[in-house]
Amino acid sequence: MLLTSFALLLLTVRIDIITLFPEIALAPLSESIIRRAREAGLVDIHAHQLRDWATGKHRKTDEYLCGGGQGMLLKPEPIFAAVEELKGDDTQVILMTPQGAPFKQHHAQRLSSSKHLIILCGHYEGVDHRVIETLVDEEISIGDYVLTNGAIAAAVVTDAIVRLIPGALGDARSPEEESFTNPNMLEAPAYTKPNDFRGMKVPEVLLSGDHGKIEAWKKEQAHQRTRANRPDLLED
Ligand code: ADE
Repeated sequence: MLLTSFALLLLTVRIDIITLFPEIALAPLSESIIRRAREAGLVDIHAHQLRDWATGKHRKTDEYLCGGGQGMLLKPEPIFAAVEELKGDDTQVILMTPQGAPFKQHHAQRLSSSKHLIILCGHYEGVDHRVIETLVDEEISIGDYVLTNGAIAAAVVTDAIVRLIPGALGDARSPEEESFTNPNMLEAPAYTKPNDFRGMKVPEVLLSGDHGKIEAWKKEQAHQRTRANRPDLLED
C-alpha cells in the first residue's frame, strides 16, 4: 500500500492553469474520467486566479495596446509573478492562443509524460509579447477560431493530456488504437446492439466472427472516412 502510494506520488503530473476564469477551466475537468484520474492521484490540477498576482487598489490585469489599436492586452507583471511563484525545475510553460501551433494528438502524447505544466490563458487581445519571449515554451491553439478566453482551450488541452496518462482510461482500450494516433487516420464506423434497428442493419462482416475480414473492413472504412472528411490527414 505504502509502495503504491509512493509510486503514484512519483508519477503524479501537476498542471497549473492560470486564468481570469478558474471556474470555467475546472468545470469540465471535474467530471467522469478526469475527475477519477484526479482522485486516483494520477494528476494534480490547480486553476489559479490571475488577479491574485495583480497589485494596486483595483488589481488590474489588462492595459491598452502600445501604439494604439483596438482592445486590451493582459499586462506582463501579474503573469510574471504567477509563473515565477509556481515554476519548478521541470516545468513547461504553455500559452493558449489562437496564434499558437495547432494542437494535435502527438502534442497531447508528448505532454502527458511531463512532470509539471503551467498553462497560461489569454484574454482580450492576448498577452504582452514579453511574456511569450521570456516565459513561454510553447504557444498552442485548439483551432482556427477565436474563443472569448483561453480557459476553455486550457480545459480542452488538459483533458486530451490527462486521458493519456497511464491508468487514466479505465477501459481496456488502448489510446494507441484511436483516431490521429497510428496511422494518422479517422476511425472506422462503429456499431452496437441491436443488430437490426428500424431496418438499418449492422454490416454482416462485423457479425461474422472472422477477425481478419473485420480488420480489413475497418481499414478500408477508415480510409474512406478519412478521404471524405479529412483528406488533409492523408497528405501529411
Ligand atoms: N484563446 C482564444 N481562442 C483560442 C484558440 N483558438 N486556441 C487557444 N486559445 C485561444
